[in-house]
Amino acid sequence: MSSSPEMSWLSVFPIVAIISLVAGVGILVYLRFFYVDLPPIEGIPEVPNGELLAGHFYKLGSDHATTAETWAQKYGWPVFQVRMGKRRAVILNSFDSAREWTVKNQSATLDRPWFYTFHGIISATSGRELAGLFLMSDSAATIGTSPWDERTKKQRRVVGSFTTGPSMRDMRPMLDLETCAMVSAIYYDSAKGDVELSPHIYQKRLALNLMTMFCYGTRFASIKDPLLGQILSDANTIASFRSTKANPQDFIPHLRYMGGNARNQTAMEVRKRRDTWLSTMLENIRGNLPMNLGSKKMNVAEMLLTDSQEGLTQMDIKTILGGLMSGGFETIFSTVIITIGMLSTPAGQAMQQKAYDDIMSVYESPEEAFEQCLNEEKSPYIAGLVKEALRFYPPLKLLPARQTYKEFIYQGAVIPKGLLLYVNAQAANRDKSVYGPDAEEFHPERWLEGGADVPPPYHFAFGAGARMCTAVNFSNRMLYAIFLRLIVAFKIEASKTMPANTHYINYKEDAAASNAVASDFRIRLTPRDKQTLEKCFERSEELSEGATSSQYSEPLKR
Ligand code: HEM
Ligand SMILES: *[C@@H]1O[C@H](CO)[C@@H](O)[C@H](O)[C@H]1NC(C)=O
Ligand SMILES: *[C@@H]1O[C@H](CO)[C@@H](O)[C@H](O)[C@H]1NC(C)=O
Ligand SMILES: *[C@@H]1O[C@H](CO)[C@@H](O)[C@H](O)[C@H]1NC(C)=O
Repeated sequence: MSSSPEMSWLSVFPIVAIISLVAGVGILVYLRFFYVDLPPIEGIPEVPNGELLAGHFYKLGSDHATTAETWAQKYGWPVFQVRMGKRRAVILNSFDSAREWTVKNQSATLDRPWFYTFHGIISATSGRELAGLFLMSDSAATIGTSPWDERTKKQRRVVGSFTTGPSMRDMRPMLDLETCAMVSAIYYDSAKGDVELSPHIYQKRLALNLMTMFCYGTRFASIKDPLLGQILSDANTIASFRSTKANPQDFIPHLRYMGGNARNQTAMEVRKRRDTWLSTMLENIRGNLPMNLGSKKMNVAEMLLTDSQEGLTQMDIKTILGGLMSGGFETIFSTVIITIGMLSTPAGQAMQQKAYDDIMSVYESPEEAFEQCLNEEKSPYIAGLVKEALRFYPPLKLLPARQTYKEFIYQGAVIPKGLLLYVNAQAANRDKSVYGPDAEEFHPERWLEGGADVPPPYHFAFGAGARMCTAVNFSNRMLYAIFLRLIVAFKIEASKTMPANTHYINYKEDAAASNAVASDFRIRLTPRDKQTLEKCFERSEELSEGATSSQYSEPLKR
């Protein structure tokens, strides 16, 4: 007779038990000592209740910046550590800590992490050419996410050289053309103020044109251009895949091997399409090069393609241009659109009046203001409005991840090399100990009165220190010119039926997107003086002649 099932189970039980025990202990030891990249940092509090594998990744919810801000308040910890899957990370939620780490200790915090999603694609497709395509199309591989090395330094130098004062002077006709085209399109499309409109598309086209002109010397002459629509919708989709939240496999390794988390088909398709239009723009430049050689280089692509001095590879060029396009377009657009929303509110009416009075006190006439705003930032109120917009509505709430480059000491705690680091700009920019009790209010005047007390970088919308945005001055000038031209041209009021949501968290269309875009709204624009405004347009048209070839020009509507 064979033994009963119970018998044989009993006989193998000790072996199974021992094997499971050893395996269990092994897994526990692995998770405890080897899974996480760095041991807990002594002296920096850790948010409780991290999950075994995911750590705090899913606890951060869909809006990471807001959750982190809530934790900082709940526990009273401006600086805390969490676990993003297998990576230990520190999140900085106060102005002083962000400044201490990224400015005072900038040499120790200037690296960026290198994420799996990016590596995974390269190794999966191999082949240099394909890698190049993805590099260009995947923002995870653009300059804003590159580790600190010679290539990154070179790229920062090149981009920086295009956003200096003299370069901005050279670009003046182009900047004039774009900002005027935005105001005039709104003016005529609203039937000179008779009909309400949604300002989004005008600001999107403006921001995109600024970047395509800056990078490739091309632009979209109409908001109805189908390619413009395609690019904008693709950019939107890409943004939804870019946030930390959309990429758990970067932090939780076992997800990489589970089918559901393979690269999303939609993302792949959109990125391919984007490659095509970015390549087309680059090829157009290359095709025109012999003609343009010798003349002044007016855009980044031209300079990169002809300048052998910096010794850039083809890959560098694609990386720089892809990074610029995504880095510049969405940030400028989202800052402008929510500020227009804020100006249109009842509280915004007083701001517009103060702004207009201030403009008129520093410029001789509306015409002069309209013309000069591209050359210097003379109105303190408008400059304050720019700072306040970036403080209160930073387009990137949790800044692009950094990584420590060497060990340093922060308030007695030893901060190791290789640590993942996030600055929570949403929280740091509303730090009451720096901005005062009214930190939760949108108040441009703060930069006129006591504002001088806030030390640089004034707010963290551009980051800070050695990896700060390379286009700070350029962006500030653009925002200044855009706000000034709008305020000189119009009184802006909210639509009765579709006013803007201006709450600092709830205004976003998609809380999980890496870039904060305001939900749709409508406004009513009343021209301050139609004749003066039309004169401004004509003058601007004269001054921006030659900014672009006839192929891309935009005759003024009348
Ligand atoms: C309102 C407009 C903008 C905002 C709020 C903004 C914000 C930022 C932020 C937060 C970073 C990361 C900084 C850090 O880690 O400390 C960054 C990096 C960068 N930005 Fe901007 N940006 C803006 C416009 C632009 C424009 C127009 C360009 C190009 C013309 C640009 C080019 C770059 C580049 C190249 C980097 C990467 C720097 C590096 O990693 O070394 N940005 N930006
Ligand atoms: C970090 O900042 C502190 C305070 O400013 C300074 O004493 C220290 O030398 C810095 N360390 C590094 C590595 O930058
Ligand atoms: C990819 O993601 C998009 C947007 O999140 C979703 O609508 C779509 O169903 C996903 N597709 C696949 C194949 O997972
Ligand atoms: C911006 O302008 C200021 C003052 O003119 C200058 O000190 C600074 O270096 C500029 N920053 C960049 C990133 O070009």
